[in-house]
Formats: sequence, structure tokens, C-alpha cells
Amino acid sequence: MKVLVTGGAGYVGSHALMELSRAGHEAFVFDNLSQGHAQAVGSCPLVRGDLSDEGQVESALEQSGAEAVMHFAASAYVGESVEDPEKYYFNNVVNTLRLLRVMRRRGVDRFIFSGSCTVYGVPERVPIGEDWPVQAINPYGRTKMAVEGVLADYARAYGLKYASLRYFNAAGAAPDGSIGEDHDPETHLIPLVIHAALGKRDSIAIFGTDYPTPDGTCVRDYVHVLDLASAHVMAMEALDERAPMVYNLSTGRGHSVRDVIERVKQVSGRDFRVLEVPRRPGDPPELVGSANKIRRELGWEPRCPSLRAIVETAWNWHKEHPDGFGG
Ligand code: UFG
Repeated sequence: MKVLVTGGAGYVGSHALMELSRAGHEAFVFDNLSQGHAQAVGSCPLVRGDLSDEGQVESALEQSGAEAVMHFAASAYVGESVEDPEKYYFNNVVNTLRLLRVMRRRGVDRFIFSGSCTVYGVPERVPIGEDWPVQAINPYGRTKMAVEGVLADYARAYGLKYASLRYFNAAGAAPDGSIGEDHDPETHLIPLVIHAALGKRDSIAIFGTDYPTPDGTCVRDYVHVLDLASAHVMAMEALDERAPMVYNLSTGRGHSVRDVIERVKQVSGRDFRVLEVPRRPGDPPELVGSANKIRRELGWEPRCPSLRAIVETAWNWHKEHPDGFGG
């Protein structure tokens, strides 16, 4: 299939390009490079354009001959979404509406959306299933909820075939070392701990040690980025028979902040300073997802479910690319 990949120069999007190519699909990237990296798209055609400009989107769809769209482009900092919700509603909701409008105009009706576990807010228990209440606690999460509502309405009214994939914590890097995680600013735990191991920062701070979890630190479900990517391809291939689809992408296993730090120390063989600081506002104590639905319905299985393997691929990427794509 020919696929337009918005945000294809970003972290999850660029790994999706690898999986698309492996499955024999033809990807075409549309990215404004505000967060993404041109080097991350490999040999895929890249159009630098912005979703706020329908003309640019339309010509990218036309040029690519796309039969499906994977939509990764979005703003994704929870804290920033609290400070500047307008940016999030425009980038994540309004721009998605524009993209869907252009798709309708051009008769493209297959859509894969980057959802997020953040839609579950603070769950009462784990593991979380897709039928649990969605009750995001920050503007970022509410933009993801809003788009899911739009997609359900468009499916009913216009026959849009969509999948919303609710990622838990995306982590790791391509095992061949070619691409990895490079955010500016970086806020995610695994790359920050690795930066401490590499001496790029002098310590790592644990945000809160008094959570109601086994070791007092937050628990998350880390899922390898290439496993996320393969789920996108499987969902896209199943759209004609199965849409609409809403799936969690997770491993069903939780790891605490302390677990992650220990694992990075083990894998890297390096020691570094660990500080304990107060909680970061808005962090749910525990997010672990059940991915039984996508396993059952599409046969998806994470190929790299262990924290060790996830950390190893991330470590290898950062060690070889200490300055990310800029290096
Ligand atoms: N953490 C630290 N120290 C740090 C950075 C993070 O202790 O320096 C902790 C956080 O408090 C959290 C855990 O590590 O408990 C993981 O934090 P991340 O920032 O890596 O990831 P989050 O779970 O906060 O965020 C992820 C996605 C978001 C999504 C969110 C939903 O990256 O896009 O889940 O809660 F919105």
C-alpha cells in the first residue's frame, strides 16, 4: 500500500517507516521538522510541510498517491499542554480535522491514529483494558480523547476506516542502530537515565518516592518502539475488514523508575548519581496496559517485551549517537 506518514521524521514515525518498508509498503513522509529529523527517514521521500496548510497536505496526498494515512504528527509534552493548551488543541485536534478533510476530499479513507494511554487518566487499577473509562487529566490527553471522538463520528457518518492505537511508554531504538530517540527537550525517563550514564548530565532525579507502588516510585509499561511500529502496519492491513479499531499497545508488565535506573546501570556498566526529588505534578502512580485485544484480534505480539532488551537497544543508539541526529 502507498502510505502518507505525517510526523514520519519523529521518534515513533521513523520506526514505522522501517516496518512499512519491511512489510513491502511504500511510505511517503510529511513533516514540518519542528521536532523530527530529516536523517531519521532514511531513503523515504520527505516533503517538508505543515498540517495547518491544507494546500500542502493536499499536494502531498496527491504526489504520494496514498491509499492510507498514518498520523504521528502531534505535540506531545504533557507539561507544555498545561501551560499552552491552545497550541495543543490546534496542533493535535484542529490539524487532524484539516488532514481528515483533505483525505475526504481526495477519497482516502484509511487512517491510523497515534492514541495514548494518557486518555485513561489515573486508572483505579491495572492492567487497563480499552473499555475502561477515558478521563484524561491534562490537555494533551484531552486532545487525544477529542480526536478519538471525531474518528468515531466520521466512521459513522463518512465511512472512515480507522484504528486508534493507544501507546503506553514508547521506548528503545532500532536494533540495527540506525535510528533512535532524540527529543529536544528530552523529558522521557529512559533517555534521561542513559544521558546520566553517558555523563551528559550529572545525575538523574526520581520524581517521587512515596507513591503507593512496591518501591514507592511510579510504574510504567515500556513498549519497544518497533513493536509499536509493527502494530501500526498490522492495523493498517486489517482496516478494510476490521475498522474501527481501538487498541492498547503495551506489554502488560510494569517497571518502576528504580527498576529502569538499575537496568540502565547494568546494561551500561556505568554508575551515576541518583537524586530523590518531589513528585512531578500529574503523574499517575501506575500505568500498565492489557494488549489482549490486539493480540487476539490481529495476532500482534511484542517481539521485544523485556525491559533489558528495550534498554539495550536504547543504550546502543545513545552510545553511538551521544548528540542524537545532530551528532
Ligand atoms: N521520571 C523521573 N525522572 C525523570 C523523568 C521521568 O522520575 O527525570 C519518571 C516520571 O515521573 C514517570 C516515569 O519516570 O513516573 C516515566 O516518565 P516519562 O516522562 O518517561 O513518561 P510518562 O509516563 O510521563 O509519559 C508517557 C508518554 C506521554 C504520555 C504519558 C501518559 O511519554 O506522551 O505517558 O501518562 F502522555
